Amino acid sequence: KITTVVNSSIEYIHINNYEIKTWYKSPYPLSTNKNKILYICELCLKNSNSRQTHYNHQFKCTNHRNNNNIKTPPGNQIYFAQINGLSIWEIDGRENIEYCRNLCLLSKLFLNSKTLYYDVEPFIFYVLMKQTKDSYDYNFIGYFSKEKSNSLNYNLSCILTLPIYQRMGYGNFLMEFSYLLSRREFKLGTPEKPLSDLGLLSYRNFWKIKIAKTLLLIKNAFEQSSSSSSSSSSSSSQAQLTLKTITLNDLANLTGMTTTDVIFGLEQLKLLYYHTPSVPSPASSQFSPNKEEVKIKIKIKSWSILQELVDNWDSKNYPNVEPELLIWKPMI
Ligand code: COA
Ligand code: NA
Repeated sequence: KITTVVNSSIEYIHINNYEIKTWYKSPYPLSTNKNKILYICELCLKNSNSRQTHYNHQFKCTNHRNNNNIKTPPGNQIYFAQINGLSIWEIDGRENIEYCRNLCLLSKLFLNSKTLYYDVEPFIFYVLMKQTKDSYDYNFIGYFSKEKSNSLNYNLSCILTLPIYQRMGYGNFLMEFSYLLSRREFKLGTPEKPLSDLGLLSYRNFWKIKIAKTLLLIKNAFEQSSSSSSSSSSSSSQAQLTLKTITLNDLANLTGMTTTDVIFGLEQLKLLYYHTPSVPSPASSQFSPNKEEVKIKIKIKSWSILQELVDNWDSKNYPNVEPELLIWKPMI
């Protein structure tokens, strides 16, 4: 008995009152599959075939409510920022199977990969919602999933920003958030491989900015401590000197990134002078964390180029993750 088809006819999804063109096929059950537009409740992710069924559902969707009696997604809100209305909801694949399956089906519409995750129970889902200023209603922006237990330091399995919200820094926000969770677990983290093209583009940028910021932080911290202890005549050359003693592990510990990803970041910044042995590309599925010790040498010809890069990134005013707003303890 066939209950799913891969060549669905869904061309648009209707969510948050937007109609969004889909990119790829997703194996929705036949019952939800026959129309060109699939209506999705942004709170409980229930699928409806028609506008009428959708609005009837929206009217009575009493999935969950917060203290102010506003409907919310399932799971626990573990992050909320008043300043931009962004919140993150932690949703256990075991506790909300229906929601998480619908989330996977939804993200498959924007993923080329062959893999399908019917088996949502080993995963936790971190869903990014944004409250609208006027009504405080929640809009679904995107999410990432994370395997509950894995031996490879994976801190992110799948990530999606709905196309209408892409290139606004939300993917970066979700990645930053995945590293914040790893830090709270006292772990280094890395996304599961292989990455999609867009995933790789976004991670390259993320690693690049993260490493640039970290190098500048180290430099500034050193300059401050050296100018308070001695005369500041040659502070920048002294900064060069201490940076010489910074190891790959230092950069990993400061960023929460695995040493392999630190190397990719340095590569993106064109600071990498050499490294041995060579490291496979993050796009490769044969990727495994380095077992032998990797030695690198970096050359920083121009601090102002790094500073410009960071300033340019910051000037975009993309949302930042504020670590103190995360209320969360790792499951043990
Ligand atoms: N083209 C070029 N660079 C891109 C890019 C694109 N389409 N998307 C992201 N980047 C790079 C840019 O440097 C970007 O900064 P900029 O927009 O200021 O130039 C930076 O990454 C940050 O992008 P951001 O806005 O934070 O990412 P996003 O919210 O658009 O989300 C994905 C990125 C990958 C989550 C999103 O493209 C997506 O959902 N894709 C479909 C699903 C997928 O492939 N997921 C990854 C594999 S599981
Ligand atoms: Na942008």
